[in-house]
Amino acid sequence: MEAVLGLMVILLGVSHGVETHCDGRQDGAQCYGALGGTVDIQLMGSTSEIPRYQLLKNSLKILDVRNNYIVIYNTIAHRSSFFPSNGTFRINNLSRNDSGDYTLETSDSDGASSGVQTLQLFIQAPVSSVLLVSECLSQGEMRVSCSSEGGDSPQYSWALDGRTLTDAELLSGNNKSNNIILKQQVSGHLVCSVRNHVNSVSKEQKTCSFINCTSINGTQILGWVHADSNSLCIEPTTEPTPVTLTAVGTSWFIIGLKAAVVILSLSGIWIWFTWKKKTILEGPAVPEKVESPDNSVFMIEMSPCSNT
Ligand SMILES: *[C@@H]1O[C@H](CO)[C@@H](O)[C@H](O)[C@H]1NC(C)=O
Ligand SMILES: *[C@@H]1O[C@H](CO)[C@@H](O)[C@H](O)[C@H]1NC(C)=O
Ligand SMILES: *[C@@H]1O[C@H](CO)[C@@H](O)[C@H](O)[C@H]1NC(C)=O
Ligand SMILES: *[C@@H]1O[C@H](CO)[C@@H](O)[C@H](O)[C@H]1NC(C)=O
Repeated sequence: MEAVLGLMVILLGVSHGVETHCDGRQDGAQCYGALGGTVDIQLMGSTSEIPRYQLLKNSLKILDVRNNYIVIYNTIAHRSSFFPSNGTFRINNLSRNDSGDYTLETSDSDGASSGVQTLQLFIQAPVSSVLLVSECLSQGEMRVSCSSEGGDSPQYSWALDGRTLTDAELLSGNNKSNNIILKQQVSGHLVCSVRNHVNSVSKEQKTCSFINCTSINGTQILGWVHADSNSLCIEPTTEPTPVTLTAVGTSWFIIGLKAAVVILSLSGIWIWFTWKKKTILEGPAVPEKVESPDNSVFMIEMSPCSNT
C-alpha cells in the first residue's frame, strides 16, 4: 500500500514538473510558469465578500464565480482548479499557449464592476542541466565555459567557495558571463549557476592547481591541472589516496607471491636432496653429521660438493 502511494506521489511529481507561485494581486504583476509544470496564481486575498468575479485570458472567460458557485470553462477545465479559500488559481501541465494576459474582473452585488486587474503569465522551459568545460592555462589561469540545456533565457552566475566571484578574481568576463577566465592563484570550489524565472541548476568544478608528480602509468606530470587530477598521481610522500592504496596493495601482493615461489622452490630442492642423501646413505657408509632441521639448508649446499 505504501509502495503504491509512493509510486503515485512519484508519478504525480513527474507529471507536475516544476511548481511556481505567483502573487497576482497587484495590477500588472508578472508571473512565470514552467513548461510542463504547475503555476499557482494568487488572484486575491479573501474571496468571501466578493459576490462575483471572473477571470479572462486574452479576453476569453476561463473562470466565473458567482455566490461561491465556481465554473471553470472548457478550454482549461481539465488541468486547472480554483481554491476560493485563498483565492488561488492553479494551472497544471503548462504549455506555451498558456502565456498571455489574465484579467480579473470583480463585481459588486448589483453587477456593477468593482475592479479590474491584469497579470501577465510567461511560460519558460526549465533549465535541465549545466555543463562546465574548463581548461588550465600555462600560467595557472583557468578558462571556464558554462552552458545549460533546455532553459529559456538562462542567466549565469558564478560563486567561489560560496560567495559571488569578484572582478578582481577575473582576467576576462564578469560574474554574469558564461565564459570566464580566472586569474592565477584563484582557488577553491567554483560553482556556475544557471537560472531563469522558473528554476535554477548549478554545477561545481575545482580550480587549477600546480602539481609535479608521477602518474600511475609512470609518466611525469608537471604543470597546472584541475585539483581532481591529483588522484592520477602516485606520491608516496603525501597521504595515500584510494589510487595509491591500490598500488601499495598490489605491490604487497606481488611481494607475497614472490616469497611463496621462493619458499616453494626451496622446499622442493630440500626434499629432493633429502631424498638423494637418503639413497646415498643407504649405499656405502659416508661419515656425515647427523641431520637436523636447523642446518638442512646448509647441507643442501654441501651435498653436491661431496658428490663431485
Ligand atoms: C491555497 O489553497 C490550496 C488548497 O488548500 C493550497 O494547495 C495552496 O497551496 C494555497 N495557496 C496559498 C498561496 O496559500
Ligand atoms: C500535458 O500536455 C501535453 C500537451 O501540451 C500532453 O501531450 C500531455 O499528455 C499532458 N500531460 C498530462 C499529464 O496531462
Ligand atoms: C557582479 O559584478 C558587477 C560588476 O561587474 C558588480 O557591480 C555586482 O555587484 C556583482 N554582483 C554580485 C552579486 O556581486
Ligand atoms: C599517462 O597518464 C597521463 C595522465 O593520466 C596521461 O595524460 C598520459 O597520456 C599517459 N601516458 C601514456 C603513455 O599512457
